[in-house]
Amino acid sequence: MLQFTLTVIRSFCFSVILLSQRGHVHPSPSPSIIAFVSQTGNVMKTTLAAAVAVALGEAGIPTVAIDLDREHRALGASLETWAADRRVRHPERVQIEVEAAETAEEALQLARRSGREMAIIDCPSRATAATALIAGAADFVVMPLVPGVKDAALTVVTVGRIIMAGVRADRLAVILTRVSTEAEARDHHAWLRATPVCGQEIRVIDAVVPERTAYRNAIGKGLTILEAQPVSVRRDARAAVNGIIEAYMEASGASGGRETAQRGAA
Ligand SMILES: Nc1ncnc2c1ncn2[C@@H]1O[C@H](COP(=O)(O)OP(=O)(O)OP(=O)(O)O)[C@@H](O)[C@H]1O
Ligand SMILES: [Mg+2]
Repeated sequence: MLQFTLTVIRSFCFSVILLSQRGHVHPSPSPSIIAFVSQTGNVMKTTLAAAVAVALGEAGIPTVAIDLDREHRALGASLETWAADRRVRHPERVQIEVEAAETAEEALQLARRSGREMAIIDCPSRATAATALIAGAADFVVMPLVPGVKDAALTVVTVGRIIMAGVRADRLAVILTRVSTEAEARDHHAWLRATPVCGQEIRVIDAVVPERTAYRNAIGKGLTILEAQPVSVRRDARAAVNGIIEAYMEASGASGGRETAQRGAA
């Protein structure tokens, strides 16, 4: 009960922090961009993009989500199709506006023209030149990683490529997803933090998302992992979403120039 109460208070405080940042930290017309990228598939990019977009919407922050996964969209299994399903099945809930993009350039244009304060870009599997372009333009890049030696190594290589493409390491974060045991989360956190890329420590979000049937069921019904049943499974989802947004806010605060310029112009 205490834990639940603390979670509710934390969620509330978090919304207040987000709302207090409106207007001067992320003024339109140039939204702050959070991009979800990975080298491998099924790591929760789309799931987390949807949850973060809904969380921002619930906090009253005008947000656009951009679906850059045209292959999955053509198959009716992308962020856009999830959002359409949500509108029909849960009209009473906070909705996300999703724009479909064919190319990275179009995704960035849609973000810039949206007039929103935040843009969430959901990239397709595999980090390509398009992903590098998105990463370079994003204010923050989230790389979900499902535990495993090969995937961890691939993630480190991808982080290195993104840094070498000119993205600052402090604008990137890895989050462990679909985690089965606390031990594997601990081991991967320790390994990632002890593995500098291009001489810089990789930012790893403390919160992890467990592998849960409840999350799979929620996604399949047009819900986010924040709305999964039973209520008890939402705590980990909330911690992960808050962890991503907090890491983004920390990175934005540290990035100085752009934020300061925006504040000055506001
Ligand atoms: N924490 C979880 N526990 C159990 N199943 C999950 C979890 N997260 C996602 N899934 C399942 O895995 C599938 C893949 O998730 P998601 O589409 O978010 O990954 P992705 O990284 O966007 O994949 P892709 O690279 O193919 O676009 C979902 O459809 C869902 O069924
Ligand atoms: Mg996806």
